[in-house]
Amino acid sequence: MAWQLMSSCSSVTAIVKSCTIIFNVVLILLQIVATSGATRFPRPPLSTNSRWVVDRFGVRVKLSCVNWVGHLEPGIPEGLNKNTARGIAILVRATGFNCVRLTSSTWLWTNDSYGGLTVAQSFSNLNITSSSIALRAINPELYPLTLREVHHQVINILTAQGLMVILDNHVSKPQWCCASNDGNGFWGDEFFDAETWLMGLTTVASEFSNNPFVVAMSLRNELRGSRQNSYLWRVLMSTAAQAVHDVNPNILIIAGGLNFGTDLSFLNKGALETSRFPNKLMYEFHWYKTSRLARGGNFNNASDQNACAISQSNVHADNGFLLEKNAPLLLSEFGINLDSTNISETQFLDCVIDYLERADLDWAFWALQGSYYLRDAVRDADEVYGLLESTWRSFRNPTVVSRLRYTIQNSTQGPQRKL
Ligand SMILES: *[C@@H]1O[C@H](CO)[C@@H](O)[C@H](O)[C@H]1NC(C)=O
Ligand SMILES: *[C@@H]1O[C@H](CO)[C@@H](O)[C@H](O)[C@H]1NC(C)=O
Ligand SMILES: *[C@@H]1O[C@H](CO)[C@@H](O)[C@H](O)[C@H]1NC(C)=O
Ligand SMILES: *[C@@H]1O[C@H](CO)[C@@H](O)[C@H](O)[C@H]1NC(C)=O
Ligand SMILES: *[C@@H]1O[C@H](CO)[C@@H](O)[C@H](O)[C@H]1NC(C)=O
Repeated sequence: MAWQLMSSCSSVTAIVKSCTIIFNVVLILLQIVATSGATRFPRPPLSTNSRWVVDRFGVRVKLSCVNWVGHLEPGIPEGLNKNTARGIAILVRATGFNCVRLTSSTWLWTNDSYGGLTVAQSFSNLNITSSSIALRAINPELYPLTLREVHHQVINILTAQGLMVILDNHVSKPQWCCASNDGNGFWGDEFFDAETWLMGLTTVASEFSNNPFVVAMSLRNELRGSRQNSYLWRVLMSTAAQAVHDVNPNILIIAGGLNFGTDLSFLNKGALETSRFPNKLMYEFHWYKTSRLARGGNFNNASDQNACAISQSNVHADNGFLLEKNAPLLLSEFGINLDSTNISETQFLDCVIDYLERADLDWAFWALQGSYYLRDAVRDADEVYGLLESTWRSFRNPTVVSRLRYTIQNSTQGPQRKL
């Protein structure tokens, strides 16, 4: 029934607001299904078998995730001034996602004079008073906590809903990501000290080792900039993977490539040595409409009929080839402007979904957040890439949410559960 409602919804137009109402009714129904046990709960710990992620019993687990930002200056997951943490977790779960890639900064875990701030102190330092007041009213039990404690609580709330969590080290210094020269791009940059980064990763790995639904850690988001090179990548990724594995042998370790996480082509010369953490390494990459992976084509040019084919072939050459080497791969960021009616946005999304469907790849949509407490000095900034509206209570573009659900959320390949 849900599907029929969705179909009539999508046949009108993507941004008709009345669809939101229908959609939210459907959501409540889905939620009943979700909590009645029809949806499969994950059985961690996860590991890899050939190119697949599998559960404790060797059955494929397809990561169908959404990104939730928690790495900006205020230091806690976005949106807690708009909805309860549990309300947000239920929305994620009810739409069929089985996991959240939650971002945080290194400083949150390594710098006590930052991670030890209370929400009130952090918001007050940044002059985001109305968000602070709203957060205290909506999530009163989170408000008195420190930034680090809020992350712990939100993660507990997500995993209590049966959601798996991937903890992503997004930046060192808390700020919007990513520019080549923002000091957070590669080891040796102004804020990106390798020792501090390792300390942050092992702290996270050990602090969450008692929550089996914290299934994976992304070692670093979108490496980039003038210092980047594959030699140092191999040395430090392998050191970090080993260090994380030593303190938390259950966790899956995720490593992204160079050039803003678009380029793992250097692994053609040999994969990362994994004998000391066997079956625990997965790779990740990012794909956007105007990123490096679109080179040679142009989604913004309506007469360019080859943009998709060219971009898919770039994706394969720089990242997807790993599947043929039996290495598991996660598309950990892709997204579109969900408010735009520009055809190039849907063409790009169609192109990505086509690739993901055929490869039956694991993925994480960018993004969940409908707004930010503070982004690039703008208070309560709207996020047009956000699945949620700026109210954090309904979906910006229900058509896209249902498309993800019915095309790429369920696995079709790999070791499946026996009936
Ligand atoms: C720690 O955080 C404080 C407060 O944000 C900042 O002023 C300081 O530079 C940080 N120190 C380090 C070593 O990162
Ligand atoms: C916050 O507001 C106070 C008072 O208006 C001002 O002195 C301070 O510079 C502001 N701080 C920031 C970070 O904007
Ligand atoms: C779609 O957006 C792109 C990039 O902003 C722009 O170049 C193009 O003209 C737009 N197309 C239409 C039909 O508005
Ligand atoms: C758009 O694509 C067409 C077909 O490939 C090409 O002939 C044209 O030059 C392109 N226009 C621009 C502005 O790049
Ligand atoms: C996905 O798989 C689950 C569990 O088998 C099933 O209940 C659900 O209907 C499937 N969803 C879609 C959209 O096919």
